[in-house]
Amino acid sequence: MRIAIVYDSRTGTTKAAAEMMAELATSEGHQCSAVSVTDAKPGDVSSADAVCVGSWTEGLFFILQHATKATIEFIDTLTLDGKPAAVFCTYKTSPGKMLPKMAEAMTDRGAQVTGQFKARGRKVPEGFASWVDSLD
Ligand SMILES: Cc1cc2nc3c(=O)[nH]c(=O)nc-3n(C[C@H](O)[C@H](O)[C@H](O)COP(=O)(O)O)c2cc1C
Repeated sequence: MRIAIVYDSRTGTTKAAAEMMAELATSEGHQCSAVSVTDAKPGDVSSADAVCVGSWTEGLFFILQHATKATIEFIDTLTLDGKPAAVFCTYKTSPGKMLPKMAEAMTDRGAQVTGQFKARGRKVPEGFASWVDSLD
């Protein structure tokens, strides 16, 4: 399967997580790359078999957390009719309700969101490997 991972990263944590996620998916036999929201092409991402979008957590550390504007603006360019999708974030204290909000934005683009993952720091978020397995 071709899995598109798109991320927004300010200081490299989300980029590193996304790259490790792409490595994991590739090692499971998928075609997968991690591309930043600024470089990703909506058409390429929309034509993948599965899509995973991630953002760093922006907010007031315990309240008002949200995905970055660039992440949501990118999601709003996608056409994902029925495709399996996932969202993820990296965070420091708490991601609050940002993952369900990202999932809702993906659902609004037609995706079937089957995974929501968070990582505190540069690592593959818990649950991502199982999500990849679920795509087979
Ligand atoms: C302006 C700003 C706001 C942040 N707000 C939150 C927050 O509300 N909750 C949280 O857990 N982390 C928050 N963080 C921490 C980052 O989300 C976290 O360090 C993230 O992993 C950084 O990812 P990046 O290195 O890809 O930019 C904030 C960071 C910044 C710079």
